Amino acid sequence: MKQINWGILAAGRISSWFCTALRTVEGARILAVGSRTKEKGEAFAARFEIERVYASYDELVADPEIDVIYIGVHTRYHYENILRCLRAGKSVVCEKSLTVNAAQAEEVIRLAREKKLFLMEAMWSKCLPVYLQVKQWVQEGQIGDIKMFKAEFFTPGKFDPPHRLYNHSIGGGALLDLSVYPVAYICSLLGTPDRVDSTAYIGETNVDVDDSIVLRWNSGAFAHICCGFNIAQENPAVLIGSKGKITIDHNFLSATSAQLRDLNNEIVAEVSIPYEVNGYEYEAKEVNRCLLEGKIESALVPLDESLTVMRVLDECRNQWGFRFAFE
Ligand SMILES: NC(=O)c1ccc[n+]([C@@H]2O[C@H](COP(=O)([O-])OP(=O)(O)OC[C@H]3O[C@@H](n4cnc5c(N)ncnc54)[C@H](OP(=O)(O)O)[C@@H]3O)[C@@H](O)[C@H]2O)c1
Repeated sequence: MKQINWGILAAGRISSWFCTALRTVEGARILAVGSRTKEKGEAFAARFEIERVYASYDELVADPEIDVIYIGVHTRYHYENILRCLRAGKSVVCEKSLTVNAAQAEEVIRLAREKKLFLMEAMWSKCLPVYLQVKQWVQEGQIGDIKMFKAEFFTPGKFDPPHRLYNHSIGGGALLDLSVYPVAYICSLLGTPDRVDSTAYIGETNVDVDDSIVLRWNSGAFAHICCGFNIAQENPAVLIGSKGKITIDHNFLSATSAQLRDLNNEIVAEVSIPYEVNGYEYEAKEVNRCLLEGKIESALVPLDESLTVMRVLDECRNQWGFRFAFE
């Protein structure tokens, strides 16, 4: 069977979560890792039994045997590293949010399409079996016309200025790290919203500590999204339609169960699918499958949807009057 050779760009935390899943995927071989620090790269390689270690990202992308590169750097560095990989002729899967803003997203998408190279945002939620069941219920008309989506995504961690979430200089803040998930979730079901209204609290490290986003569609549907740090929450989501509703009680973005209900809240159908590994195996399989089939885009995580999300997030920041100093 043909194998896809993977390169891992950055030996950080999310790269390790992704590799834990990727190494279980049939037809995928983690061939190399690139880290700015040789020792860190070597330790990562030893942990995941990776054959080749490069002490720079340029050396990694120059390896002629690598087919696809997973980018696990902080948000600020997504754009430059996507360009680095595409220019070297590599397919790419890059952590969310795809870039810092829509102009960057347009540019990397244009280049990937020009070069006929695969590019995907690592929006793993859209590859999860429970999400796909939710989408199927919606497409089958099980809840009728969507009227309302409500979702929250809070992380309970302590105030920690160096942490990426609080760090302005690397593209921190709730919007790009957390709100990207519920915005992507509902935009993949309803398309581009016709109206965006957003407010945020910008904290002392000059990032949005929390934000509130209301999206409206001319169909009458609306979405109410709240995200932020320092609040312990169950992160539920609910989709309410004209004929029924779908509830996702706990961590909707990584859910392993959901319920289809009638308007009296009685459960009509349920889905419960535990992870095979840690949840990232579904996006890893999706990328590997697309590459084996010679596709340059994933139907589960289309680039136009990632671009729509970046435009929504840009509009939120415009309304707050917030820009990153490095933009
Ligand atoms: N999909 C998810 O569930 C999920 C969860 C958490 C985070 N994320 C995303 O993953 C990305 C990274 O988060 P993380 O938690 O993995 O962070 P992390 O542990 O700090 O790792 C980030 C890596 O970026 C690399 N890097 C490149 N340039 C850098 C610079 N100038 N300063 C510092 N590091 C630099 C470093 O790799 P080297 O030193 O090896 O070069 C570092 O290990 C973010 O975009 C975040 O939104 C996704």
